[in-house]
Amino acid sequence: MEEFKNRAAVIVDSGSACCRAGLAGEENPRCCIPALVAAARRQHENGGNDQHFVVGQAAAAQGHRLGRAGTVRSPSWRGVTTDWQALEVLWHHVFYKQLKMAPEDQAVFVTDSPFDPTTCREKVCELLFEQFGVPALFVGHAPTLALYASGCISGLVLELGHGGSRVTAVHEGWTLARPGIRVDTGGYDLTAYMATLLSAAGNHFGAHLWHVVRNIKEQCCYVALDAKAETARRKADLLIEYKLPDGKVITLGNERFWCPELLFQPSLRGLSDPGISAMISDCLARAPQGTRPSLTNKVLLIGGGASLPGLIARLQSELKNLASAGQLVPPGTVVCIPSTQMLTVWRGASIVAATEPFQECWLTHDTYKEMGSFAVHHYCY
Ligand SMILES: Nc1ncnc2c1ncn2[C@@H]1O[C@H](COP(=O)(O)OP(=O)(O)OP(=O)(O)O)[C@@H](O)[C@H]1O
Ligand SMILES: [Mg+2]
Repeated sequence: MEEFKNRAAVIVDSGSACCRAGLAGEENPRCCIPALVAAARRQHENGGNDQHFVVGQAAAAQGHRLGRAGTVRSPSWRGVTTDWQALEVLWHHVFYKQLKMAPEDQAVFVTDSPFDPTTCREKVCELLFEQFGVPALFVGHAPTLALYASGCISGLVLELGHGGSRVTAVHEGWTLARPGIRVDTGGYDLTAYMATLLSAAGNHFGAHLWHVVRNIKEQCCYVALDAKAETARRKADLLIEYKLPDGKVITLGNERFWCPELLFQPSLRGLSDPGISAMISDCLARAPQGTRPSLTNKVLLIGGGASLPGLIARLQSELKNLASAGQLVPPGTVVCIPSTQMLTVWRGASIVAATEPFQECWLTHDTYKEMGSFAVHHYCY
């Protein structure tokens, strides 16, 4: 009846840029692929052809070749699933091709965001039960899972994802919905801003070279302690060379720190959103008074953007300044788990789903048949 409990559950953390999947109880996901799907033509020996989907790296490569991002579909945009057909194609590929597992045999644990519309959970539930025939599932909030992975049940989680930046307050394992803040400045926007800065410096990159700009951002950027003071530094100290795929070498200077400065000053792109330090401070100010001491205990940095060198020092400095200006800011330290930022959420889910007590928490197919997709709100909270 509940055979699935004898097998490790599948854990899926499907973001705007990357889909991570693997088995509960393992330290690392077995696959991390670009969350991209593209339609492609398949040529047959008899001269005919048909359309099929390519997924992950193959879809990304197709986008690079055609130079038209529109031909490649991403299931999520700004951290929210918007293309459910693309998500089904992506997960089908992940289950059958990457993990080589039949989802009808395994329970599946999916991560989501507290900022998602509640209907997203219901749709995930329908997709997994109806299209993939899973025997049981669970949906958990990414920030809470990340805290679990770092051994905590309370704290503020700053998530620097591809689709945006989010701060969530988690108190004793519960996501506090009201204080959470999200802005649409994420890794995607940093890459776009980098392309603008490079272009202003005379290095133009077309849409087909988006992946190159993204790589430049990931390899060369850092967060300055003070961007204005950094600009005044001797130019030669900032310069580094970057070799393009065609062998040409370009020199990077100020754009190395002005690009991530966007996280602190969204006004650089004309946006009125708060920067990430103000988001942390605002989130804390909006949290119920009694929860604040447990929240200031830890500010956990997760997501790909958390890998940026210099980020923690800058955050600490800005939070200190906000504290002296009388704002409510964490007096504690900003804690970052080294080099696993993009895996932290997945790891948290992997730990939780492998524990003995959790086996009673699954939403089973039988319950879904009885209660419908709304059951997900009763079981997964
Ligand atoms: N070293 C780095 N420096 C700066 N940015 C980085 C670095 N490494 C990865 N990134 C960026 O992090 C982003 C991917 O992060 P992550 O995997 O957390 O996003 P996601 O979970 O797919 O998205 P989301 O949670 O917003 O839906 C990409 O934009 C990537 O370019
Ligand atoms: Mg994410």
